[in-house]
Amino acid sequence: MGKILLTGGTGFIGSHTAVKVIESGYDVVIADDLSNSDASVKGRIERITGKGVSFYQVDVADSAAMEEIFDAHEIDAVIHFAGYKAVGESVVRPLAYYRNNLDTALTLLETMQRHGCKSFIFSSSATVYSPANDVPFTEESEDLGCTNPYGWTKFMIEQILKDVCKADPEMSVVLLRYFNPIGAHASGLIGENPSGVPNNLMPYITQVAQGIRPHLNVFGDDYPTHDGTGVRDYIHVVDLAAGHVAALEYCTAHKGCEVFNLGTGQGYSVLDLVKTFERVNGVEIPYEITDRRAGDIAVSYADVSKAREVLGWKAEKGIEDMCRDAWRWQQSL
Ligand code: WQD
Repeated sequence: MGKILLTGGTGFIGSHTAVKVIESGYDVVIADDLSNSDASVKGRIERITGKGVSFYQVDVADSAAMEEIFDAHEIDAVIHFAGYKAVGESVVRPLAYYRNNLDTALTLLETMQRHGCKSFIFSSSATVYSPANDVPFTEESEDLGCTNPYGWTKFMIEQILKDVCKADPEMSVVLLRYFNPIGAHASGLIGENPSGVPNNLMPYITQVAQGIRPHLNVFGDDYPTHDGTGVRDYIHVVDLAAGHVAALEYCTAHKGCEVFNLGTGQGYSVLDLVKTFERVNGVEIPYEITDRRAGDIAVSYADVSKAREVLGWKAEKGIEDMCRDAWRWQQSL
């Protein structure tokens, strides 16, 4: 099958993808500096899959360290997850975000070029879609600008990859634009574990459920949506992980650069998610309505027809599975 390098492979999406990639018959090498993940994740991936993983604690922007990995392994394809990902922090520390996210991508691509590795899958984000576009967002939605430096780093790396493909017709690149990944592996062994106060909705809900935080702040109830709260396309992280395996298979059969949305195509409001979480898990989530969060948009969901038609992939799990699995994981912490 082949050997796949996952940068950021011990992170939330990376670890679930590592499991799916191994279960699909590939060997996995992980490069992660553990700046936002835990050293125990490697062993947990191995426990779930029953297979060994090669792990390197390195900064992906460290050219010599990446060179060593490519010298030691015949890497067939790279899935690049590593990067800073907090939208709010990116507004406060733009230089850190541009430096880190662009440096890691460039170093990785240069190393791949030296070693003749031609297949690259990139963790992009729905945040590259300007809210000036209509929903659902399609891959053809217009480039009307991002709303924060984090989004711009994704946008810029997408552009770099398009140019790399133009310069080298042997390159095969897939840009995956994730919507809102939540949930956790059904084993309860891997999941999302943000340090500090969670920025994102589901980890906040699970911490409220566990009594770590007294209540959820719902950021605005005056959006033009069915209940006034923001609507998002939540996707189970295990479905998202399977999308990467489909992208790997696509990569081996096609050259050039293609972009795909990975979402369910269905939007749920903040209160839809809260109510579903309460119902399926039998816990109460106290909440208070507060002001809107700066930079938030009312509604975001994907047109998922391209991924279905071209990759033959679609999300299988529903919002109830996402709530159950996220709660199981939180309780294991
Ligand atoms: C979802 C909804 C909030 C927290 C961001 C990035 C995106 C990706 C995922 C990646 C919104 C509301 C949230 C809370 C709330 N990033 N909310 N109370 O903003 O859609 O997407 O995270 O690495 O690029 O933009 O996700 O989970 O933060 O918010 O009411 O405490 O929940 O207003 O409507 P978002 P989110």
